[in-house]
Amino acid sequence: MKACELRQKYINFFKGKGHAVIKSAPLVPENDPTVLFTTAGMHPLVPFLLGEKHPLGKRLVNFQKCLRTGDIEEVGDSVHLTFFEMLGNWSLGDYFKKEAIEYSFEFLTSPEWLGLSPDKLAVTVFAGDSDAPFDDDAKNCWLKLGVPERRIAERSKKDNWWGPAGKTGPCGPDTEMFFWNGTTPPPRVFNPDDKNWVEIWNDVFMQYNKTKDGDYPPLSQKNVDTGMGVERVTAILQGKPSCYDTELFEPVIQRLREISAKTSSNDPEQINAERIIADHLRAAVFIMADGILPGNVDQPYILRRLIRRSVMQSKKLEIRELFSAKIAKTIVSAYSDAYPELSKKSAKIEEEMTAEEEQFRRTIEKGSKEFEKFISRVPAHIEKKVISGKNAFFLYETYGFPVEITTEMASEKGFSVDMAGYAEAYRKHQELSRRGAEQKFKGGLADNSEKTTKLHMTTHLLHEALRRVLGKHVEQKGSNITAERLRFDFSHPEKMTDEQLIEVQRIVNEVVEKKMGVSIESKTVEEALDEGAIGLFAEKYGEKVKIYSVGDFSKEICGGPHVENTETLGRFRILKEESSSRGTRRIKAVLE
Ligand code: ALA
Repeated sequence: MKACELRQKYINFFKGKGHAVIKSAPLVPENDPTVLFTTAGMHPLVPFLLGEKHPLGKRLVNFQKCLRTGDIEEVGDSVHLTFFEMLGNWSLGDYFKKEAIEYSFEFLTSPEWLGLSPDKLAVTVFAGDSDAPFDDDAKNCWLKLGVPERRIAERSKKDNWWGPAGKTGPCGPDTEMFFWNGTTPPPRVFNPDDKNWVEIWNDVFMQYNKTKDGDYPPLSQKNVDTGMGVERVTAILQGKPSCYDTELFEPVIQRLREISAKTSSNDPEQINAERIIADHLRAAVFIMADGILPGNVDQPYILRRLIRRSVMQSKKLEIRELFSAKIAKTIVSAYSDAYPELSKKSAKIEEEMTAEEEQFRRTIEKGSKEFEKFISRVPAHIEKKVISGKNAFFLYETYGFPVEITTEMASEKGFSVDMAGYAEAYRKHQELSRRGAEQKFKGGLADNSEKTTKLHMTTHLLHEALRRVLGKHVEQKGSNITAERLRFDFSHPEKMTDEQLIEVQRIVNEVVEKKMGVSIESKTVEEALDEGAIGLFAEKYGEKVKIYSVGDFSKEICGGPHVENTETLGRFRILKEESSSRGTRRIKAVLE
């Protein structure tokens, strides 16, 4: 069975059980700025799991594009992916464990649906702890359906609890289904740690709401949230050992082999590189189809990393020409039936992909020169030639050289890389970025003096004025304030015209002249978003945030210091508008 048939069967099965079909939400969450990407089908449904009424009712089904970057280093083996598709069905306070498990079992094993052999099926259930009891209801449901005791494993929270998606929110015990995908007959007794048992579906019983204090009070309604991995199940249905052997990746790998000088199909290093490229460029195509372009922060940065890692891997395949757009084209044609948004954006995706690849190939050239310098500094007579961890990290950070590529280039020259030193440099950098991120959420303020407070307050006005003049796509991407000036980065694809700049400046000065009062309220993130508040913030669902309202002009979530009335600000003047990175503009301005 092909993936397209699997998607269709899943939807039809649950439609037949009274579920309404909902569209796949964008990969970039529309109303949750606390995460970069949609990581599960339930993500866009959080408000409804918390009790809000869904317009299409209490039973929903869909297939959802998802992206998780946590396993990016693992991609290349047979199961890890960054982008993946999740089939999901939901009960929003309607049916619960019994029906959910019965539906899952019927869909998996009935010859009318997937027809998988019950002999190769095993499940796990939650063993219970001080937060929630052992899930004997789930276990009994499986026993009644004929799954033998020896194929049911009881596991702790680490394995059999799902959510919340952020730090707080809906979550609960789950029961996970595994299918034997080994070449030998399945063992009598189920051992979930045996890699031949592949996890294919997860039924989560979302009945708790994790709070910020780590408590688990029950939710007002009991929900079911399920997720089935399209790639894994497709491989199983086709008796294939990995997702990459199915039609979801095959055309991409074939295309790579047409472009590459390496055509053998049993060189493990080649296969690994092909898989990484196929995974990463597939993810990149989907991210770009949602309107993101490569850049240096947030989603644009992840996108950049995915493309750059693919280009680096292409070295292993001895690909020397521009190739990413060719692969993107193959991906678009393989997925356009299920995701029509791809073909609409294909020209733009190919163009931007090539631009990024070209730019990065120039960077690699520069990096290679830098690498040669490191090598040439070590005198020939030294026996143990080492590239320091600091230098290896420099190549990674500045030119995007993954350490394994540096190691390879080094070994060709008789050098090794100080890996412990590299790990240490990496750790230090992470620590600095973490602190940087905290600073960003504080509003990028140098201090809390009166001048910086005023300039910070002005960024709120500027942000709203930009949205009014340029459109709602404008979002804050960064801010840096000194006592002299403000700097504000925001998403916008092109240079602003003089007329637009004058209009933005005029609007801000008008707000100053109107002497608008600034008020502060404390609300939950959901309430703030419902009211249309904008802003960058680090809090998760359920946590309280401060909302600053400037008269009826703007409403923004923020943690920084503020003035009481706009009249104290002074005259606003834009000094400069320039590019910050692709798709991000930067304004520098002062108060006079
Ligand atoms: N939300 C659950 C998961 O991602 C179904 O596994």
